[in-house]
Amino acid sequence: MPINPKYIQLIKSGEIVAFPTETVYGLGADAWNPSAIQKVFEVKGRPSDNPLIVHISSIEQVEDFAFDIPETAKKLMNAFWPGPLSLILIKKPEVLDAVTAGLDTVAIRMPNHSMALEFISRTGPLVAPSANKSGRPSPTNAVHVREDFGIDFPVIDGDSTKIGLESTVVDLSGTEVTILRPGSISKKQLEEVLEMEILESFFQTSIGPKSPGQKYSHYKPKAKVRWLKKSDSLNDTSVLFLLMNSEIETNNIVNYQGDLKRLAKELYDRFRQADIEDFDLVVIESFEDMDHPIVSALLNRISKAIH
Ligand code: TXA
Ligand code: MG
Repeated sequence: MPINPKYIQLIKSGEIVAFPTETVYGLGADAWNPSAIQKVFEVKGRPSDNPLIVHISSIEQVEDFAFDIPETAKKLMNAFWPGPLSLILIKKPEVLDAVTAGLDTVAIRMPNHSMALEFISRTGPLVAPSANKSGRPSPTNAVHVREDFGIDFPVIDGDSTKIGLESTVVDLSGTEVTILRPGSISKKQLEEVLEMEILESFFQTSIGPKSPGQKYSHYKPKAKVRWLKKSDSLNDTSVLFLLMNSEIETNNIVNYQGDLKRLAKELYDRFRQADIEDFDLVVIESFEDMDHPIVSALLNRISKAIH
């Protein structure tokens, strides 16, 4: 489906437009326009020390942003782009401070979504944080974007996103390769391509977070979230149950029957549902298939919603 030219015009005139990717919807702005990027921070209510991911539509565009692209990055781009993988690279001096929050690195990704790729190929590279107000769950459809930013907000509607959780963020700017945010591309998949061991650093350490986003509590619904306990009564109608292996399916019980991919795709929508329908609590049953590639990302987002 062709992108309505009015959205391209909006980006070119320094406005922001929400668009779909395979992970979550992004809030797009011209990566070379400081006042447009300023608007992204204002509209989202995002702390200015939290840098943005640059979204590109072709691998060659990496060179406009990154310096000294390492072999590891080239291997990962070839294996996973377009796809849910953001790479942290040493930035070129001309990359705007507003994008990187003053860091000497820049995060880049090429989304695997035909509308996103067409849009970016016509606007040029876009910065795009998740298209939610800061502290709200990331949006996985256009309705979610309008919930946060109003009914008239410009959003390219590409239906529900396929993955539902944000991209894996991998830091390639140092001597080691470190996952800063787990996503649907797992540590194991990355290690297979790089043929080396990869580190993980998802949480803030005493020397401060490696990724500024780690210190902010994203993904939090109004309802409390916790894991299922043996003593829980499934008859409690003020609770939204996300179960893994049960026969029951009612208004307030969703049974995923071990389908973790479906849980990932729907998780943020369920959090929003809990808010809209005024559930007090979202209770999630723990998983059996701990080897599934999405497990690490799911546990990370659920534990952030719990805390
Ligand atoms: O799937 C995604 O990545 C989505 C879609 C729209 O592409 N975008 C997204 O963006 O999740 P955002 O802004 O919500 O999250 C970006 C994360 C933040 O945690 C931020 O701190 C981190 O990436 N980040 C960005 N640039 C960084 C850098 N130079 N160094 C370390 N972390 C960085
Ligand atoms: Mg976000």
